[in-house]
Amino acid sequence: GLKIAVIGGGSSYTPELIDGLIKGQHELPVNEVWLVDVEEGKEKLTIIGRLAQRMVSKAGAPITIHWTLDRQAALKEAAFVITQFRVGGLAARIKDETIPLKYDVIGQETNGPGGLFKALRTIPVILDICEEMEELCPEAWLINFTNPAGIVTEAVLRHSRINKVIGLCNGPISISRGIAAALNVEPARVRIDFAGLNHMSYGLKTALDGEDISSRVIAMLAGRGEDGQMIRQLTGVEWVPEFVEALGVIPCGYHRYYYQPRTMLAAMKREAAQTGTRAEVVKRLEDELFALYQDPNLNVKPKQLEGRGGAYYSEAAVQLMRSIYTDKRDIQVVNTRNQGAIAGIPDESAVEVSCVITKEGPRPLVMGELPVAVRGLVQQIKSFERVTVEAAVSGDYRTALLAMVINPLVPSDAIAKQILDELLEAHRAYLPRF
Ligand code: NAD
Ligand code: G6P
Ligand code: MN
Repeated sequence: GLKIAVIGGGSSYTPELIDGLIKGQHELPVNEVWLVDVEEGKEKLTIIGRLAQRMVSKAGAPITIHWTLDRQAALKEAAFVITQFRVGGLAARIKDETIPLKYDVIGQETNGPGGLFKALRTIPVILDICEEMEELCPEAWLINFTNPAGIVTEAVLRHSRINKVIGLCNGPISISRGIAAALNVEPARVRIDFAGLNHMSYGLKTALDGEDISSRVIAMLAGRGEDGQMIRQLTGVEWVPEFVEALGVIPCGYHRYYYQPRTMLAAMKREAAQTGTRAEVVKRLEDELFALYQDPNLNVKPKQLEGRGGAYYSEAAVQLMRSIYTDKRDIQVVNTRNQGAIAGIPDESAVEVSCVITKEGPRPLVMGELPVAVRGLVQQIKSFERVTVEAAVSGDYRTALLAMVINPLVPSDAIAKQILDELLEAHRAYLPRF
């Protein structure tokens, strides 16, 4: 059987992963799951560990659950290492989301200044994990969920000796499933070619049973199809119909920060004042979830977990591990080394792209040139990601400032410096290199 290590095991998402592993047993024979956390997350880890144990025993699955603060014990001889940690916890996310708003800049977990700082906190930790993996489980695959997943993957590709790394996001699979639902067909019949970067990828082409239905999907996305209204909301965003028609490819939900920045800024300021930012809403939901998780009679994942944004996250993880393990060679969307798949992006950079999943890992499908209208933004964000990685690794103030200034959501060098200084101060405890 296989051993899986889950770093950030105290996450409220973990029961979903356990549920996926239980259901996936026949194709992915996992017999040990090691949940790891840090001192700050010890209480959450214990609650999750006990719930996971109840879940496997209720299901009669031959999986042993371990929970520990000893990362090395968890990594030793693991076949897969899943990373889903949040350095500084939700308290740090609240700062990422609120401080930029003071300067009239979008405050978001994976985009703009917030995304930059989440990367600065996360990258040193992931690189430490990679060093330990070289020693303790050199054959293992690292499957990273930790956001900003694309930037974290870029850091691993460029600054560690771990080659078997895959960044994973639930976004593409959610879009595919939403389109299948709108078309009223089985998800397996719909295939979308995705290309771009994490939280910046586009659906270039959609096929139903192998037939190109891209223009039908674009029409629906513009609200002009039979089920127009429903699919218009697909990415959680209402686009100007003529805009999506002209764009000609499917944008993701996070594109609204780039194509609708003023609307988003206003909405975020309003929410911050009324309900608190998304992190504060998530904090309340998490408290509710952990109260449920502690109930000794609970032995399945509760419905309330659907209130989190990570729908299909465990499905994405389990189907990816399964296809590597069985050399299935099906197509999945992951963050991996570009290797020429997308023109104009360095071969060794991370991209989010449809890939054939083999036992040697993902093989990206060749996508060629992105449409001219999106090419520039994707390249600009890739530059931001690369400079961000350099800042995280070096701890260099000027490099961090440069990353902040070249981010399209930041209006000027002077404002960038103010936000940078305030966030550096706020996150000092989690930024040992600065
Ligand atoms: P969370 O705040 O519950 O954090 C998860 C756990 O990580 C906590 O128990 C915390 O104590 C622990 N942790 C903090 N620092 C750690 C460290 N250095 N080592 C080990 N564990 C550590 O977070 P969450 O909301 O459950 O999300 C977890 C992560 O997964 C976040 O980074 C989030 O952005 C990411 N995520 C990504 C996707 C995706 O699409 N890629 C989807 C959902 C969540
Ligand atoms: C989507 C994204 C994830 C992100 C999540 C946020 O699922 O793909 O990368 O972590 O939303 O959800 P939350 O419930 O934490 O706001
Ligand atoms: Mn994501």
